[in-house]
Amino acid sequence: MQVQTALFDPTDGASEATMSPAPFKLQLLKWIGNKQRFGHQIAAYFPVDYRCYYEPFLGSGGVLGVVAPHAGVGSDSLGPLIGIWQCLRDDPAVLVEWYRQRWEQFEAADDRVAAYEAIKASYNAGPNAADLLFLSRSCYGGVVRFRKDGYMSTPVGVHSPVSPASFKNRVAEWALRVCGCQFLQLDYREAIDMAGADDIVYCDPPYTDTQKILYGAHAFSLLDLCEHIAAAKARGAKVALSIDGTKRSGSHRVMLPIPDGLFEREAAVNCGISHLRRFQRGGETLGDEVVADRLLLTW
Ligand SMILES: C[S@@+](CC[C@H](N)C(=O)[O-])C[C@H]1O[C@@H](n2cnc3c(N)ncnc32)[C@H](O)[C@@H]1O
Repeated sequence: MQVQTALFDPTDGASEATMSPAPFKLQLLKWIGNKQRFGHQIAAYFPVDYRCYYEPFLGSGGVLGVVAPHAGVGSDSLGPLIGIWQCLRDDPAVLVEWYRQRWEQFEAADDRVAAYEAIKASYNAGPNAADLLFLSRSCYGGVVRFRKDGYMSTPVGVHSPVSPASFKNRVAEWALRVCGCQFLQLDYREAIDMAGADDIVYCDPPYTDTQKILYGAHAFSLLDLCEHIAAAKARGAKVALSIDGTKRSGSHRVMLPIPDGLFEREAAVNCGISHLRRFQRGGETLGDEVVADRLLLTW
């Protein structure tokens, strides 16, 4: 594998025109690993001409929102999360209403912790998109964390969740950006296997070492992901893979089992301070935790 340590020119090595999207920072959801702040840096490596854009680890769609694909498939294994995306595309007013109802319940409460816990209990009794939407905006550090059994365990955040008016603006902006997309609850294998010639696939998997306790991604295997990427590449798809640049878990650096020859190029994408570490240290801001994500490209 050819490894470039410095951020290279987005056009380097690619004969075709690449995207040049403007930064888009108005987040719809808070989500651990959210890529939106530097989604424009990632998308700058993608070709302008493509058939369909796939994002099989959708989360809060940080890159999909920047790309705003003319045709796209956003997918994730978490069903209630996909319910949020489907509602955004099919009936954005309902999404705003879901948020407004829970926000008012929360704001009117004498005890906001209890109000938040009631919404969390409702989600845990029957996982659903409407509760998850409010929990993602109001939970501690924006880190929606699931136990192995699927129980959402994050406590309430110290911040004030955005107002319904602000959320409505976000929905209006996002609805325009996803109108070319369909949203499916899929394991990443099924989603990547759909991609063929002239498609783009952007993979942002749970970081195997530091994030496997999140999203219920306990069985995630990078090697298995690479096998599906290799098959998509052989069908003519262009696949980009984000990897946690620090590769640190506690005090050790994680070795990544990436097959030789699968990726042609690598870029460093600046993503500032590690939010995961910030959460683990109980809200303390870490000025020294500047990390860069690695972006590996099959073309
Ligand atoms: C690092 S996050 C993606 C963050 C996203 N790029 C963003 O901007 O918010 C990884 C996502 O992978 C999803 N996931 C975990 N295991 C998966 C699997 N086996 N198949 C599909 N999605 C999975 C999680 O639910 C989570 O939303």
